[in-house]
Amino acid sequence: MTESVALAAFAHGLPKAELHLHLEGTLEPELKFALAARNGIELAEKTVEEVKATYDFTDLTSFLAVYYPAMQVLQTAEDFEDLAWAYLLRAKEQGVVHAEMFFDPQAHTSRGVPFEAVIGGYRRAIVRAERELGVSGELILCFLRDFSAEYAMATLMEALPYKGWIAGVGLDSDERDNPPGTFSAVFARARAEGFLLTMHCDIDQVGSVENIRAVLTEVGVDRIDHGTNIVEDPDLVALAKARGIGFTCCPVSNSFVTEQMKAEEIVGLMREGVRVTINSDDPAYFGAYVGDNYVALAEYADLSHTDLVQLAINSFAASWLTPARRAAYIDLVEKYAAAHGVALPA
Ligand code: HPA
Ligand code: ZN
Repeated sequence: MTESVALAAFAHGLPKAELHLHLEGTLEPELKFALAARNGIELAEKTVEEVKATYDFTDLTSFLAVYYPAMQVLQTAEDFEDLAWAYLLRAKEQGVVHAEMFFDPQAHTSRGVPFEAVIGGYRRAIVRAERELGVSGELILCFLRDFSAEYAMATLMEALPYKGWIAGVGLDSDERDNPPGTFSAVFARARAEGFLLTMHCDIDQVGSVENIRAVLTEVGVDRIDHGTNIVEDPDLVALAKARGIGFTCCPVSNSFVTEQMKAEEIVGLMREGVRVTINSDDPAYFGAYVGDNYVALAEYADLSHTDLVQLAINSFAASWLTPARRAAYIDLVEKYAAAHGVALPA
């Protein structure tokens, strides 16, 4: 066995939480065809290869231009359940024991699909995964930042009857010209309703650092999705570290929407003691699930087995689990490391 094979197997088996995963970004071409057939939808592409040929992304905007139209095949609660179930099966194979998953209700309600169908379907898959796979799951409702604050607030109101099924709220879609401050009132209301808060601070955006500062100091989030441009402002790094803010980084996704994985930033923050985590973002589109992301980063940045253990520990430390469950999962990681003769992080 070569060193890299050993590392890949170790990374895949490592118990981990996935904290940055868009359920709509797990739509594999095969399932897309199956759902299209079930719903009587004719797709422009006829083969998996033709679908994959459209995955030609140079930035976030060009990715989103492929991502949203694909969702037309998602129509009924059963479709959403099948999508989440397929992801949870894949996640289990990648060592995931807990997943906090984004969903984009406005990408569906804006085309006439009821909110209830979306959340009801996702919820059924989560309940089934807990029972049949031993994988726990939570939902994070993301507002689409290229829609208005009023529509976000209306979506929050629509979500309130389902509060028990939603751990927190986030903000995604195109950051360009859509700064976090636009949604301050929506996030303040979400906080008052008891939701935890996270927001995307996408990579290399115009105003990335100002947006990260606003997200930390004005919105007061519990976590940041991506956010590695924070390295440009050491004072902000110190603030995030002091507050124990988790950063949900997605190296393979980064390599699609920018020119690099941003490995230097991710690893640098980790070495500084910032709570950096590794995740897949939209694995069907970027061709890498979460274990694959650990391996890609490790190979590129020459990480040790102990570094991977640190990343897995961070994934639970930054999760929205109860302190007792966090501690139990971290114990599981430490036992896994010990069983493989891998030293724990200092
Ligand atoms: N950033 C913004 N919007 C998104 C992303 C992302 O990483 N993935 C899916 N929608
Ligand atoms: Zn994302």
